[in-house]
Amino acid sequence: MKLDVKTKEHSYDIIIGKGILKNCASYIVNTGKSPAKILIVTDENVAQFYGDTVCESLKTIAEVKLVVLPAGETTKSLGYLSDLYDEAFSFGMTRTDLAVALGGGVIGDLTGFFASTVLRGIDVVQIPTTLLSQVDSSVGGKTAIDVSWGKNLVGTFYQPSLVIADTATLDTLPDEEFSSGLAEVIKYGCIWDKDFFDKINSAADRKGLMKIIDEIVYTCCDIKRQVVEQDELDTALRMILNFGHTAGHIVEKAYNYTGYTHGEAVAFGMIIAARLGERLGITEEGTTKRIEETIKKFQLPYDIKITHEALSGITLDKKTSGNSISVILLDKIGKFNMHKMSTTEYVELLKEIW
Ligand SMILES: NC(=O)c1ccc[n+]([C@@H]2O[C@H](COP(=O)([O-])OP(=O)(O)OC[C@H]3O[C@@H](n4cnc5c(N)ncnc54)[C@H](O)[C@@H]3O)[C@@H](O)[C@H]2O)c1
Ligand SMILES: [Zn+2]
Repeated sequence: MKLDVKTKEHSYDIIIGKGILKNCASYIVNTGKSPAKILIVTDENVAQFYGDTVCESLKTIAEVKLVVLPAGETTKSLGYLSDLYDEAFSFGMTRTDLAVALGGGVIGDLTGFFASTVLRGIDVVQIPTTLLSQVDSSVGGKTAIDVSWGKNLVGTFYQPSLVIADTATLDTLPDEEFSSGLAEVIKYGCIWDKDFFDKINSAADRKGLMKIIDEIVYTCCDIKRQVVEQDELDTALRMILNFGHTAGHIVEKAYNYTGYTHGEAVAFGMIIAARLGERLGITEEGTTKRIEETIKKFQLPYDIKITHEALSGITLDKKTSGNSISVILLDKIGKFNMHKMSTTEYVELLKEIW
């Protein structure tokens, strides 16, 4: 399956399929690029499963260097970014060479940022290997690293020249990571496509989802593509991708970013957003129940406790401007509703419904 994404600078393809990793060289050749050197960045878990396959393929078209970093969010740092610059210069890379990000969102964000800055920008190919990175982070061109002031605070908008999403790589993904990505999948259905939401629900479990995984990844990328093409620089429409994320971030923060994964927090955040919408008379009755059922079925959390003190103390993030906040609600499943309200009203309502 192939999806063509148009951005202001150039268009690029997202190629989706099972077992396509071994052909990654030919997809790169098809873009018309002919790098002399390719720097492949990955993490230790991914290297163990897929490092050789990708190296073997890419060796047929260029000189290859594989950089294996530790797994985990802490790798998205200035320290490892600096290491990548060292690796690139000691490898003798020039502006026409290529960086390849082989891994989840951590490797994708770090390598994307590296590629956008080294030698004032070299091409980057994303090879996402987690469900989250296949349906979310590899599309849209946001790159970032974390600094001591917070997550994703330093970054660029930089589009890849190609995305290769091999869905067979998801077979080795731990359950927790699969669920984390699934929360974003459910999100796309909620805000954009009821038929897709129903399709997800027709699967009984992870195994059932894997039977239709190519279609799932394709549909999510296609929805994100449509949103991003209309709002490349993240000013308006792209906010709808934050459905479930405002309350989700409150959970992540309240539990110190360790109690729940991002996906788990977002899953419950979607329930809160649906409840809030129903409470305000915006969301069709019964919507919360349907979302709750889906979340339960796929073993994501449907009841996360939070104290009213924690709610009162919250500082809302970048979705606020002055004293108002744009909350993404639903009219019904498949149709988002961007709703502006005062932050005080938002917090008071949260206390009522949480
Ligand atoms: N750029 C964006 O638009 C965007 C959007 C959403 C999230 N993000 C970022 O993405 C990051 C999270 O991404 P993630 O959830 O992919 O996490 P991740 O990259 O940390 O991967 C999760 C874990 O799975 C392992 N793994 C990866 N692929 C595997 C495979 N096929 N088999 C076995 N193990 C595998 C990794 O080693 C890691 O331990 C965060 O840093 C977040 O900020 C970016
Ligand atoms: Zn998210």
